[in-house]
Amino acid sequence: MKINGIQGSLAEAKCDVLIINLFKGVITPGGATGAVDKALDGLISSYVIKKEKFEGELNKTYVLPTYGKLPADKVVIVGLGESEKFDLNKIREVTATAYRKAQELKAKKVCTILHGAGIGGLNPEDCAQSIAEGAVIASYKFDKYKSKKDDKNTNIEEFSIVELDKDKIEQLNKGIEKGKTIADGVNFARDLVNEPACELTPAKLAQTAQSLQGISCKIIEKNEAQKLGMGAFLSVAKGSSEPPKFIHMTYKPKNAKAKIAIIGKGLTFDSGGLDLKPRGSMVTMKDDMSGSAAVVGVMSVLPKLKPDVEIHAIVAACENMPGCSAYKPGDVLTAMNKKTIEVDNTDAEGRLTLADAICYANTLKVDKIIDIATLTGACVVALGRFASGIVGNNQDLVDDLINAGNEGGERLWQLPLYEEYFGSLKSDIADFKHAGSREGGAQVAGIFLSKFAEDTPWAHIDIAGPAWLDKNVKEMPKGATGAGVRTLINYILDL
Ligand code: BES
Ligand code: MN
Ligand code: ZN
Repeated sequence: MKINGIQGSLAEAKCDVLIINLFKGVITPGGATGAVDKALDGLISSYVIKKEKFEGELNKTYVLPTYGKLPADKVVIVGLGESEKFDLNKIREVTATAYRKAQELKAKKVCTILHGAGIGGLNPEDCAQSIAEGAVIASYKFDKYKSKKDDKNTNIEEFSIVELDKDKIEQLNKGIEKGKTIADGVNFARDLVNEPACELTPAKLAQTAQSLQGISCKIIEKNEAQKLGMGAFLSVAKGSSEPPKFIHMTYKPKNAKAKIAIIGKGLTFDSGGLDLKPRGSMVTMKDDMSGSAAVVGVMSVLPKLKPDVEIHAIVAACENMPGCSAYKPGDVLTAMNKKTIEVDNTDAEGRLTLADAICYANTLKVDKIIDIATLTGACVVALGRFASGIVGNNQDLVDDLINAGNEGGERLWQLPLYEEYFGSLKSDIADFKHAGSREGGAQVAGIFLSKFAEDTPWAHIDIAGPAWLDKNVKEMPKGATGAGVRTLINYILDL
């Protein structure tokens, strides 16, 4: 899909669908919507609003044919909701709504006005960025395995933001370029997660990481990982015939002002291991590499976004399977930092792989470590699908990540990391156990990881809920969401 900013008036915008908007409660529209109302002889104010009672509620749409009064074939009015609650996140959301409506109408060429920059009072470049993100995220589909493609919705070929003011076009195109790049990162991650586990093995994930332009990538094979002492990670991989791959990607600009590690959980499938999951819980477990998809998605677009920050992306990729060499409850493992861990539930595998990844990040002498993982069902129980959990040993880092999330339309909710959570990880024979109590399960996992981060400022984001949706929510269609990509990119760009 081509996406661009074009200078001109709506009266000249030739397209299949023209997207305009309406704030809640507006009776006489002004600005661009007002101009379209005028061109349509007052149809919007006198009929759509007055008679049809279309009130501009958030994400409600109204379709209107233009009967040749405008070069556009049809107009889609999208409700922006209450003007006091309007922000850049709403722009992303309504753009996605209108985009889907235009698809249903089989539009090939779509024009939209620049939502938010009129009475919304927002910065035009930011608005354009949100529009591009909304459109590109909404355009995503994963149908490579369908022999008959669903033709109910068309592929929109061209999506243009129409703006009268010539001076704004450069800003618009800058915002569009940034938004499109970020959304490409999101969609890249979604492709990796939607790919079935039989295809996206640890080896395939490693290959994908190696193929990224402008990123250097080192793959640490099993033998070398053994030499490095990654006993926690390698134990998880033992039950599978797929070889584990420890992936280390680097983005290194000249004169970097900071050095950050981003670690993604990369369980390409989590059966639970010998503590096998029931089928209902196992069925979506190809998504247990969503954290790694997020960091690979981020790395795929960093060379285009060009932040002045050195980024190390790390994934300890493997499968958790109950094969005959699988690790067992009661086993004692030694992690890279020489800490010993007693296995009490083989389904708490993610934290073991992350433990060695965090130790490895510490050997790189990074300033900060951020890990992102589909780590606990407890986090899904606590927060549902609409927020990720976050814990950390450094409040500034946690706050910065929460803000970066809000900026990109991703919610992060901080959970406490009281030392008491460590209590249930006491072991009689090793330094500690790794699964512990179900009560406060997300925090127990967090306190376990904190023991490996040691003094490095560290934060852990649990995306178990938002990584996967079974129905459309806002701009996100069901399936893999690419959770965390926008948060991490915004965090890096804001440093
Ligand atoms: N991958 C799961 C967590 C998960 C659950 C992700 C639901 C996405 C949706 C993780 O490896 C796991 O199994 N965690 C256990 C931990 C427990 C054994 C301490 C869990 O949450 O039940
Ligand atoms: Mn598990
Ligand atoms: Zn898992």
